[in-house]
Amino acid sequence: MSAALPDAVVVEPTDRSTRWIDRWLEACEDLAELQRSNPMTDAVIEEIEGRRIRIGERWLVDFASCNYLGFDLERSIMNRVPEYLERWGTHPSWSRLLGSPALYEQIERRLTKLLGCEDTLILPTITLIHLSVIPVLAGGGTIYVDRRAHKTIYEGCQFASMRGATIKRFDHEDADDLERLLRKSPSGQRLVCIDGVNSMTGNAPDVARFAQLARQYDAILYVDDAHGFGVIGERGAPDVTPYGSRGNGVVRHFGESYDHVVFVAGLSKAYSSLAAFIACPPELKRLLKTSAPPYLYSGPSPTASLATVIAGLDLNDLRGDQIRAGLWEKTDTVLRCLERLGIHTPNESGFPIIEIPLARHEDVDAVGRFLFEQGIYVTLAAYPLVPRTEVGFRVQVTAANTQGEIEYLTDVLGKVANAFDLQPARSDRPKAAAA
Ligand SMILES: Cc1ncc(COP(=O)(O)O)c(C=O)c1O
Repeated sequence: MSAALPDAVVVEPTDRSTRWIDRWLEACEDLAELQRSNPMTDAVIEEIEGRRIRIGERWLVDFASCNYLGFDLERSIMNRVPEYLERWGTHPSWSRLLGSPALYEQIERRLTKLLGCEDTLILPTITLIHLSVIPVLAGGGTIYVDRRAHKTIYEGCQFASMRGATIKRFDHEDADDLERLLRKSPSGQRLVCIDGVNSMTGNAPDVARFAQLARQYDAILYVDDAHGFGVIGERGAPDVTPYGSRGNGVVRHFGESYDHVVFVAGLSKAYSSLAAFIACPPELKRLLKTSAPPYLYSGPSPTASLATVIAGLDLNDLRGDQIRAGLWEKTDTVLRCLERLGIHTPNESGFPIIEIPLARHEDVDAVGRFLFEQGIYVTLAAYPLVPRTEVGFRVQVTAANTQGEIEYLTDVLGKVANAFDLQPARSDRPKAAAA
């Protein structure tokens, strides 16, 4: 599942004599049971037709895809791939240090311009970026990490700690808690790691406040915006949707500069291509070219992915904001449906990630089966991937979902609300910023 693993899977032994493997098995029991028995996990998808997928004999509407802009199904993008294959073959299998096709330079220049940053460096995935860049940025200093940062950020922090960095956690999206820790700590290299748009709640932290703290305490703010890049971007009047425009990510969305900020995002979600990048000053880019193992050793992105990034950037220039306006309308239809039904979702942003927690975590298997029977495919969020109070399912809307599919989803959500106990809407929930 591509869902966040908010904390590392937490195993809390009460009996010290229990074997470590038994503790792990016990902690992951709910998830393992789902994986074994629920058709919504570990499924083999045999065929797709638009945003419908076939699993065995059953066709379902896919609301678990991260292809937010629908670029994976966009004919004008697919048609561009063969010309690149003709010129570059299927796969440039040099590591980037040994030889980078000029396509990389071309994409890096375009990303730098779109983001308004100093420079960018492409590596195959965000996970590889976290594992290789966080240790470089942290050195022997201190990493302050959001308690619920994505699991892959934690993996990067683990690597950094093996190289001498100290890790401190602050409360989720709580800049005051971060400042308390920054004030207490000795000076030295400091790195603050947070998510941009959160992969479960669909909300973004107050990046402006975090950036201000980074500058005040001479730290680097490291932001993973896997889900925001391509969807949200710079704001200005008049904004047609709460997403802002150009899809240039959460830093620009908050009107922030890249001063003391390192921005990381992927192209495998909104841009439907296997690649990721880090926006950073040129001297850091130079350093990473000899210190980040994926640049030195990893197999690179396939030609088709580099081609679809270029074609995707072209389409984004041409009508990205129009696509995002349609995406927002579809997301808004689902959010308004939940509001009518009186169902809670943590989504306050209007961004296209909508988590629906259950009142009783034990129901997750039955809810998953019910949705599957109804022909709706979602991401199940089970314990220990999320705390028991947040166990439920996550709906992701993409521009490629048809209006009919969105309406069908809202019908099925009504049936789920009748058949199961969901958490009631909270009266204090702020509404997504008006368009
Ligand atoms: C917030 C976040 N960061 C990183 C990743 C991993 O990205 P990649 O597949 O590029 O390694 C994901 C994947 O779901 C994610 O949600």
